[in-house]
Formats: sequence, structure tokens, C-alpha cells
Amino acid sequence: MASWAIYHQKGGVGKTAASVNLAYLAASNGYKTLLWDTDSQAASSFYFEQQAHTKQQSKKLFLQDISLLDVAEETAFENLWLVAADKSASEADVLAYEIKNFKRKLGQTLKLAAKEFDLVIIDCAPGLSYLHDAIFDAADAIILPTIPTTLSIHALEQVQAHFAAKGLPAEKMKCFFSMVDHRKNLHHETMQQYYKQKLFCKSYIPYLSDIEKMGIQRQPVTAYAPNSYASQCYTDVWKELKKQFL
Ligand SMILES: Nc1ncnc2c1ncn2[C@@H]1O[C@H](COP(=O)(O)OP(=O)(O)O)[C@@H](O)[C@H]1O
Ligand SMILES: [Mg+2]
Repeated sequence: MASWAIYHQKGGVGKTAASVNLAYLAASNGYKTLLWDTDSQAASSFYFEQQAHTKQQSKKLFLQDISLLDVAEETAFENLWLVAADKSASEADVLAYEIKNFKRKLGQTLKLAAKEFDLVIIDCAPGLSYLHDAIFDAADAIILPTIPTTLSIHALEQVQAHFAAKGLPAEKMKCFFSMVDHRKNLHHETMQQYYKQKLFCKSYIPYLSDIEKMGIQRQPVTAYAPNSYASQCYTDVWKELKKQFL
């Protein structure tokens, strides 16, 4: 079993789009997969048309009053399960700070899920908090969709510096370029500069309206348009990540 956190300090970089598509691809490739939505915006939950079925479910999960296995619900797709988020997920940062041994407990939460699932994908909220530190500690891989722009790279470099300062293993981190716009020179130049680093996958996700339409379809694009260019791109990223982390 492996756990992957789909994370970036910045919002709106394609974390949720990657989470739902990687989770779908893993499931359709035969891995029993759990997608854990930890963002109070509950966007992954929205895509699968699922809501938390327990009041304050996210808070209870972080308090360990309930386990992931208690609240994981089957989606419409074979092998794919979801733990939905609700507004109480916004309290997780504070809880992570206040609960004794939170990091160890989060590790146990994921280990328990490992009894049932081959892969747990955590759709993270943006930011860089104590909760994120616990996730960095507990997850096997931290995957960062990164837009090839100055601010996105700047935020990535801050995360790298944070990893170094906290002694977190840099080899857990892997990035791929996200929302790439081929018409923009800056995107090309940034990608050329960073591709030399092993940190980035060779595959990347372009800016595509098929991906934006997931909001209307309420499904991963890899599910409703499996032969599209968007699906091919997510599949390429999935294959690279699978090779390294599964
Ligand atoms: N590659 C892409 N091409 C076009 N639109 C995208 C792409 N990735 C994400 N989006 C859209 O951009 C918005 C933010 O994406 P999202 O995955 O929710 O980001 P995050 O989870 O990092 O906040 C959403 O409306 C989503 O549909
Ligand atoms: Mg999101």
C-alpha cells in the first residue's frame, strides 16, 4: 500500500483535478483506491457527487473519533472509494497543533487504511501548516502540480526550503507541470529551466477545456473522455508516478 498527498502551497494549481484523475486511473488499473478529501472546499467530493455522511466528519477523522474505513464510501466507479470533506476540515490545522502526537496518529490512520486499500490519495488544502507537516511525515509521496509561472515556482521553492529546514526527506517530493499554456513563452522558459531537475516528471498537464468541464460532468475527465488528449496526459503522469512510488 502507498499513500500519496497531492499538495501545493498555492491554491488553484490543479491539485483536485490531479487527485480525482490519478485516483480514477489507479482504480481502473486494478488498485483498490481511497481518495481522502481533506480540503474544506470539498471539491473532490463535489466531483464524485458525495457528501460527508457524518456530522463534522472531517473533524472527527482528525480527532480519530472515527477511522477512514468507517466513512469511506464507494463511488460509481469500481475499486474507487472516497472519504468526503465537510466544512469542519477547515479546523484541521488547529486540531493538528493541539492534539498530542498528531503526526504519529495520522500515520496510524493511514496504516489502518492500508489494510483495505492499495493506494490512498490525499487531496490537500493549500497552505503550509502543522497539518501539512503531519501529512508530509505520514504520506509516502508528496506530489506537487506546479504551474510554470514565477509565483508557483516561488511557492515550490518555499516548500523545498521548508523540507530542508524540517529534515523531511526530499526524495518524497515529486512535481509535474500543470495547466501548461503553450502560447506563453514564460511557461516554455520555466519548463526548460526546471526539466533538468529530477524533481519534475517528464509528463505534464496542459491547460485544456476538457479538464475544466469536469465541473459540469462531475466525473474525472479520464472517466468520461478516456480517449481525449487530457486523459492521455493524466495517464502519462500516472505511469511516471506509479513507476516511482507504487
Ligand atoms: N489542466 C487544466 N486545464 C484547465 N483547467 C484546469 C486544469 N486543471 C484544473 N483546472 C481548473 O482550474 C480550477 C482549479 O483547479 P483545481 O484542481 O480545483 O485546483 P486546486 O485543487 O489546486 O485548488 C478548476 O476550476 C479546474 O477545473
Ligand atoms: Mg483543491
